[in-house]
Amino acid sequence: MPSVLIVHASRHGATAGIAERIAEVLQSTGVRTNVVDAAEMPDPAPFDACVIGGGVYMGKWVSSGTEFLDRFASTLATRPIWLFSSGPLPGSTKEPTAAVEDPIESALGPAQGPGSGGRRQIEELSERIHPRDHRVFFGAFDPSDPPRSMSERVVRMMPGSKGILPPGDFRDWPAIEAWARQIAGALSTEPVTL
Ligand SMILES: Cc1cc2nc3c(=O)[nH]c(=O)nc-3n(C[C@H](O)[C@H](O)[C@H](O)COP(=O)(O)O)c2cc1C
Repeated sequence: MPSVLIVHASRHGATAGIAERIAEVLQSTGVRTNVVDAAEMPDPAPFDACVIGGGVYMGKWVSSGTEFLDRFASTLATRPIWLFSSGPLPGSTKEPTAAVEDPIESALGPAQGPGSGGRRQIEELSERIHPRDHRVFFGAFDPSDPPRSMSERVVRMMPGSKGILPPGDFRDWPAIEAWARQIAGALSTEPVTL
């Protein structure tokens, strides 16, 4: 029975919820799972595979997620790895549009030039760990949950922030569950002898 470490870098809980749902789907297929906050820096060495998800703020993953990828890159590179970003809020400027069809670009910004720092950070880490996939899921925003950082406080106070931060829970559970089933399918054909 394969074992999968599921790590989330979540500021307000939406990403953690996606991680929990992925775990439920994997467990239903007989996979053992551990869901852990990236800030705890869980060692992936005892696990056969790893799924890592980051909430996106101002085009960057919550930093504990990228710190986890950086710290354990050499171990992660030897295992099947899947990444997900919990980002765009439908109706915001971050929602994929005809002009920006690439979901990674709509969440993390362009590949080059101004505003590309968060995306390049993930791409550089991906070159070291070779994830099987990097999926972007719609996120959630609850304006009654107080900001957890100064920059988040500033963005929320900006004029027009209501337009870029539509409130609501937009997590697409069928899409998340379908992706988790794909991971389960890949694990069932994967040799798990490490
Ligand atoms: C201040 C602020 C900035 C955000 N910036 C982005 C962004 O640049 N790209 C994006 O895709 N989503 C952005 N979002 C949406 C969040 O990533 C989304 O709500 C996510 O699901 C939050 O995850 P968490 O609850 O695990 O922290 C932003 C949300 C807030 C409140």
